[in-house]
Amino acid sequence: MCGIFGYIGKKTTAAQIVLEGLKSLEYRGYDSWGVATIPIIMKPFDSAQGEQFSNSAIAVKKQVGKIGNASVNDLPEGNLAFGHTRWATHGGVTERNAHPHLDCSHTIAVVHNGIIENYQEIKNKLIIKGHLFLSETDSEVATHLIEEYVKTRSFSDAVRTAFNDCTGLNALIVTSLKDQKIIAVRNGSPLAVGFGDGENLVASDATALLPFTRTVHFLEDDEMALLTKNTITINNVKTGNEIVVKKVRLNWIVDQTQLGSFPHFMLKEIHEQPRVLESIASQSVATIQKNADTIKDAAHSYLLGCGSASYVAIAGAYLFSKIAGKHINWAIGSEFGYQLDFLNSRSVIIPVSQSGETMDILESVKKAKLKQARIVALVNVFGSTLYRVADHKILIAAGPEKAVASTKAVTAMLAHLTLLAYALAGKTKAGQDVVKRAIESTNQLLVQKSIVQFKKLARQLKNTRHLFVIGRGLSYPASLETALKIKEIAYIHAEGMAAGELKHGPLALVEKGTPCIAFLPNDETYGANLAGAMEMKARGAKILGISHTPHEIFDEYIEVKDAEEATIIPNIVVAQLLAYYLTLERDLDPDKPRNLAKSVTVK
Ligand code: M6R
Repeated sequence: MCGIFGYIGKKTTAAQIVLEGLKSLEYRGYDSWGVATIPIIMKPFDSAQGEQFSNSAIAVKKQVGKIGNASVNDLPEGNLAFGHTRWATHGGVTERNAHPHLDCSHTIAVVHNGIIENYQEIKNKLIIKGHLFLSETDSEVATHLIEEYVKTRSFSDAVRTAFNDCTGLNALIVTSLKDQKIIAVRNGSPLAVGFGDGENLVASDATALLPFTRTVHFLEDDEMALLTKNTITINNVKTGNEIVVKKVRLNWIVDQTQLGSFPHFMLKEIHEQPRVLESIASQSVATIQKNADTIKDAAHSYLLGCGSASYVAIAGAYLFSKIAGKHINWAIGSEFGYQLDFLNSRSVIIPVSQSGETMDILESVKKAKLKQARIVALVNVFGSTLYRVADHKILIAAGPEKAVASTKAVTAMLAHLTLLAYALAGKTKAGQDVVKRAIESTNQLLVQKSIVQFKKLARQLKNTRHLFVIGRGLSYPASLETALKIKEIAYIHAEGMAAGELKHGPLALVEKGTPCIAFLPNDETYGANLAGAMEMKARGAKILGISHTPHEIFDEYIEVKDAEEATIIPNIVVAQLLAYYLTLERDLDPDKPRNLAKSVTVK
């Protein structure tokens, strides 16, 4: 949550560079934004403009709303700037609460990601010392605390001491007019530094560094980076000792992070799925087998995920049971920490995460590690925190995913789990064939004729207040995922459930015309699912059947070609397309839904 980007170097357009960096990170938070720069020139006072920048204060521009077409042409030239796109935690969405925050003398600026848990206590002490607070945020205390410490120690020592005083999981970027360096420090929230040529950078997501450099270091917890134009030094924030780090060279493709000819990242990412799935299915049998071996002998194993990834975890439990006869449990990332007392060194935890930065997952993984459990992570972002802490890493390899609604990462996770289950059953080749069938089925959903049908359905459903999604077996997690997608971006209340649960309560909500999406794949659940849909229909529901074959009870029908156990993949593609076109019909932005952000780095 919150995008951070900082630049120090030879160019004098630092604010402009930072603005562009922030635009590429906007999916991390988009309720407000701000940029701070250290001016190198004195602007003549212009009363019509109403603003004067001098080189005795840090210049800041902040605005509420998306960064979209914003400009920082009114900020002065400078060689150092950093900025922030906010996802509010403490304090409403206002210009004052937007970052960067300045100290009382306007010579220290800070941007922050995370939550300073003891901020009130620190703030009270600082107020007594005479500091003037302008915002309601927890972040502003860091600025004034550094201002206080810098009176008696060096700038870097002041930042270090202040950071250590703050409890919680945080990342800070700080500069001071006097020192003209950038200090970046983290404990929990992600940060990467980029080594350029006569310029150095920092960002909360390394993809934003690609236009400048491919040589990066992902800051570990308790690391503090000090950036000048030509150097980056890393110290331990607790001890102050210098750390020699191994730089990482990224081989990511810049094009993958661009929108290209698509109107939205979500649509682009939906259409990328056949290619992503193809490369997953084409991994060598040896690689798939090697990954499967890491979970083969576990005494107990748990799949963990949050949001869409938690539904992937549920699907995983079905897949391993059905295909490999193996019991793998699943848990929601934020809950697992309360039920892991039985773990030991023979336990295997399989966290599943696109970003690899989801705090609810990382916290549970940390606790599991303390119990000596082995961590086998299924993660999309190379270099992410989860990637680094895992004992064994399986890269999802879906490429960068920018839309807040996860699409290609979800189906890619499902493809990996399907292959692992088949590999455990000693039938890796059959697993690859099944995933290939899912690709063929997905391709048929992406052709123009099918898109026309999704648009038509979206027009029919756009004024719906609430709807149901039902399925059994692997279609149960597909139902949960469909409901989440519709809620998340189209803002329609949708309830996904196991079809068998209808008669235990929710059926009371069904009335004439209530839309019900029913998954009826060609598997052992078909008959029981049909019964569920009929129970709905008998009470007046309108049934949208998603199946390999039409049925007379369907009011609308979407054909999904059978792909055996991998049919959940095209079924989820149906959910994505329906949610996407519903969102457009409702005049909403599918890439940036209200109140949400791409990477959930707070608890
Ligand atoms: O990065 P992760 O896969 O760990 O993210 C987990 C969830 O936050 C994520 O799937 C979320 O539910 C998506 N917005 C769903 O579309």
